[in-house]
Amino acid sequence: MKAYTLTKHGKPSVLKIAEVPEPEPNAGEIRIKIKRIGINYAEILSRKGMYGWAPKLPYILGMEAFGEVDALGENVSHRQIGEHVIVGTQFGSYAEKIIVKERQALPVIESFSPEENAAYAVNYLTAWVSLFEMARLRSTDSVLIHAAAGGVGTAAVQLAKHFGCTVFGTAGSNEKIKLLSDLNIDGAINYRTQDFENEIKKLTNGKGVDVILEVVGGDVYKKSLRLLNPLGRIVIAGFASMNLQKWNPLSWLRTWRDMPKATIMKMAEKSYGVMATHLGYLLPDEKQLQKTWNELNTFMEKNNIKPVVGHIFNFEELAKAHELMESRKSHGKIVINVSS
Ligand SMILES: NC(=O)c1ccc[n+]([C@@H]2O[C@H](COP(=O)([O-])OP(=O)(O)OC[C@H]3O[C@@H](n4cnc5c(N)ncnc54)[C@H](OP(=O)(O)O)[C@@H]3O)[C@@H](O)[C@H]2O)c1
Repeated sequence: MKAYTLTKHGKPSVLKIAEVPEPEPNAGEIRIKIKRIGINYAEILSRKGMYGWAPKLPYILGMEAFGEVDALGENVSHRQIGEHVIVGTQFGSYAEKIIVKERQALPVIESFSPEENAAYAVNYLTAWVSLFEMARLRSTDSVLIHAAAGGVGTAAVQLAKHFGCTVFGTAGSNEKIKLLSDLNIDGAINYRTQDFENEIKKLTNGKGVDVILEVVGGDVYKKSLRLLNPLGRIVIAGFASMNLQKWNPLSWLRTWRDMPKATIMKMAEKSYGVMATHLGYLLPDEKQLQKTWNELNTFMEKNNIKPVVGHIFNFEELAKAHELMESRKSHGKIVINVSS
C-alpha cells in the first residue's frame, strides 16, 4: 500500500509517498481502507518535530480518517467488514490502510458526506470539550473564538451560535471574515488590520466576554485575559504562534515568556478561570469519550450542523495541503481524497 512515512523532520517537501507493506490486524484490532483523511494543525507540528505526542521517527503521520473496515483481527465483536467508520489516532492515517483497536473506530454520521465525516471528530470534539465540558458554556454567555475560520474555530463558532451565545471571532483575512459572516457570527475581527482587544471592547460596550477559546498563545493570550469578564473562563487548546522546539537557551526563554501562564491572585481579583485541554489525554478514557461523542452527535443532529470543508486535495498532493495550512490561508477543514 502507499503511505507517507516521515523519516526526517522539516518542510512539507519531507512528505514523500512510498510503497510500504500492508499491515495485518492482531487480536482486538481492525484494518480500515482509508477513503478520506482530515488534516490537523498538530500534524504540521509533528512534521516539524515540535509535537510532544508524536512517536519516534520513522512513522506514518496522520491523526484522522474516514474509511471502510476491510479486515478483522481475532475477538473483534463490535465492527464488521464493509462498515464505514471514523478514526481518531495519534499517527498512521496518511496511508491507504490503517490498523486500530476496534474501540478506536467511531461510527460515522450517516447524513454527512465522506469529506464531512473526515472533518468531524478532532475539530468538533476539541471545540465541544473546550466550550461545554471545560468552560461550561451557558446560552447567555458571550464568546470569543480565536482562529475562528479554521477547523476547530468554525466548529466552535457553529456550536456556540447554535447554543444561543453571542459569538465573536478573530481571523487573518477578509475572505475568512466573510466565511464567519456566513456562519452568522455576531462580530468578526481581522486581527491583521484591527486590534482585536479594542474591537471586542467596542462590540461589547467596554465590557468584555464571558468565554474565550484560545489556540494561539503569546500576545493573543495576554490580550485575551484582559477581555475576560468577572466569572469568565478562558480555555487554552493550542499554541499556534509558538516555536516549541528547544533550539537554544535563548529561543527556549522566548517560548517560556510567551507560554500562557496563570496567576492565582490575578484570577481571584477578577474571579475568572484559566483552563487547558488536549484531546490526546481524553481519548483513552472510553467512558468519557463515549459520553462526549453521544452528546456532540445529538447536538449536531438536532441543529443540523455540518462540518465546514474548506479544501480538498488528492492523496499525492498531501505536501501541498500542509503548505496551505502552514500559510495560514486555509479555512475550515482540509480533507485529502484517498480512494472512492
Ligand atoms: N487541544 C486539542 O486537543 C486540540 C485539538 C485540535 C486542534 N488543536 C489546536 O487548535 C488550533 C487549530 O487547529 P486546526 O487544526 O483547526 O487548524 P486551523 O485553525 O485550521 O489552522 C491554523 C490557523 O491558526 C491561525 N493562526 C493564528 N495565529 C497563528 C500563528 N501565529 N501561526 C500559525 N497559525 C496561526 C491561522 O488562522 P488566522 O490567521 O486566520 O487566525 C491558521 O489558519 C491549533 O492550535 C491546534 O494545535 C488542539
